[in-house]
Amino acid sequence: MTQIPRAGVIGNPISHSLSPKLHSYWLNRYGIEGTYTAIKVTEDKLEETLRDLPKQGFIGANVTLPHKTSVMQFADNITDRATLIGAANTLIFKNDGRIFADNTDGYGFMANLRQGAPEWDPKSGPAAIFGAGGAARAIIVALADAGVPEIIISNRTRAKAEALRADFGARISVIDWVQADQMLEEARTVINTTSLGMVGAQEFKVPLNGLRKDAVVTDIVYNPLKTPFLLAAEQQGCRTVDGLGMLLHQGVPGFERWFGQRPEVDEATRKAVLS
Ligand code: ATR
Repeated sequence: MTQIPRAGVIGNPISHSLSPKLHSYWLNRYGIEGTYTAIKVTEDKLEETLRDLPKQGFIGANVTLPHKTSVMQFADNITDRATLIGAANTLIFKNDGRIFADNTDGYGFMANLRQGAPEWDPKSGPAAIFGAGGAARAIIVALADAGVPEIIISNRTRAKAEALRADFGARISVIDWVQADQMLEEARTVINTTSLGMVGAQEFKVPLNGLRKDAVVTDIVYNPLKTPFLLAAEQQGCRTVDGLGMLLHQGVPGFERWFGQRPEVDEATRKAVLS
């Protein structure tokens, strides 16, 4: 008897994760026998859990906070993009117990932008990034790879933005948080990677009236879907893309590897996850 393939998402906390809804929806939509569940794991149990899951029929897992970086030490194979980002969000458990680690956050970011703003051309001009956390790292790698000529970063803690410049080099410049609006003068791609504007978090206060009308503006915050940041950009006449799609698209490569079907990200998928 063959076991029903299992996958899930590892994190702590994990109850808020939308991934179980997303993958369960896809499993159902494509009539695939499989399961996808949330798995709460504390840091001290991470290795034990990773060794144990394949024995329970798990063929892979997504990884979320706070394990995205620490999980790398238990991987036997790591993709170039996960190495560059320094974090993994997608694991594949091989039959022989080896663990393959990838990072699909940058992919998810790009796929979302391309779907939401088909006319967007990464080469058209500089990108401006608010924030310098883990999500910013993945987005910088993806943007550089797509040929964005220059990336300007502004972060409350300037040292973190400087560290990104040190890691990713020549195409990156840093602007002080109090002057963050100056990034907007030339920027054709503008991204909020901070938690500002999220339900329960502080407001995004950097003035956006310097935005170019031909800029494409996106936010990684998806609760609310239309953040005050996106709303302000829309009022300036910019094309905006909300952050939900990044989450949905980052799940595509894992689902395809585990269950053998490339899933669609469309309106029905969005509705299923938001329901
Ligand atoms: P992640 O890894 O998911 O990106 P993170 O590392 O905690 O999460 O990063 C959150 C981002 O939001 C950081 O850029 C953070 O700025 P700091 O590096 O200065 O902490 C930014 N952020 C969070 N709260 C903020 C606030 N009140 N004002 C400005 N930036 C804030």
